[in-house]
Amino acid sequence: MKPIPLEDDFNDIVNKAMSGLRLTDKELSRRTGVSMEIIHGLCRGQLDETSLPRIAPALELDPQALLRSALKLYRPRPVEVEGLLMFTSLYRASMTVNAYVVFDPVTREAAVFDTSTDALPIVDRIAELDLKPVSLFLTHTHPDHIAEADALKHRLGVTVRSSNREPLPGSTPFEPGTVFPLGNLRVEARSTWGHSKGGTTYVISGLEVPVAVVGDALFAGSMGGGMVSYPDALRTNREAIFRLPDDTVICPGHGPMSTLAEEKRHNPFYPEFK
Ligand SMILES: [Fe+2]
Repeated sequence: MKPIPLEDDFNDIVNKAMSGLRLTDKELSRRTGVSMEIIHGLCRGQLDETSLPRIAPALELDPQALLRSALKLYRPRPVEVEGLLMFTSLYRASMTVNAYVVFDPVTREAAVFDTSTDALPIVDRIAELDLKPVSLFLTHTHPDHIAEADALKHRLGVTVRSSNREPLPGSTPFEPGTVFPLGNLRVEARSTWGHSKGGTTYVISGLEVPVAVVGDALFAGSMGGGMVSYPDALRTNREAIFRLPDDTVICPGHGPMSTLAEEKRHNPFYPEFK
């Protein structure tokens, strides 16, 4: 399979931080001494290698990580974990969206995380591997993540579970903090709200390394953005994700998988780990 590109370019990161902090181009220019013209160019993806690191501190971003993103120097290492499968499908022609299957290699019990836009490869792979699907966990209810919820529910006979802060009609809501057994594995639902009201990260333990299915809370080298609350999106990620062990595999809703160690080093939104 062709490697999935990173979800965000440096200008997406700059735009997300500006809107999250409610910083206008004029104010950013005043605080950094970088001209409006250059800021407009940066926002559109025109790289100015001297000015980009200069605006980073005002955006609470790590200057070097932001520059590495612009120079396309960050590419997470490929992830392979027994009991973890990734599915990627197209959404609106130009975007891709991910779903995951996690299973206990001993008991074969399995859970699906988000739906992507194509249930078929998920259903086929589950049959091929002779897995026993029990749940479909939703990270949040934005359309690209739930597009095939009905199809998966009916074809796999799974219980659909979503946060009680963002329940999908027809699903079984849970309280953040709930732990679900999955064979010999455990799936802990942690609140990472901010991108959406009930945004949930599922921390799975019992495989060879910890796995965090994060939805749009975090991307390799970026994050989904604080559509509900940017400060809370940053804070809940710090509390629920960035305290996990470094070898935790990060499974985002868009873009490639990575590890927490790589995000600490390369994600510009978390300068405190550099
Ligand atoms: Fe989303």
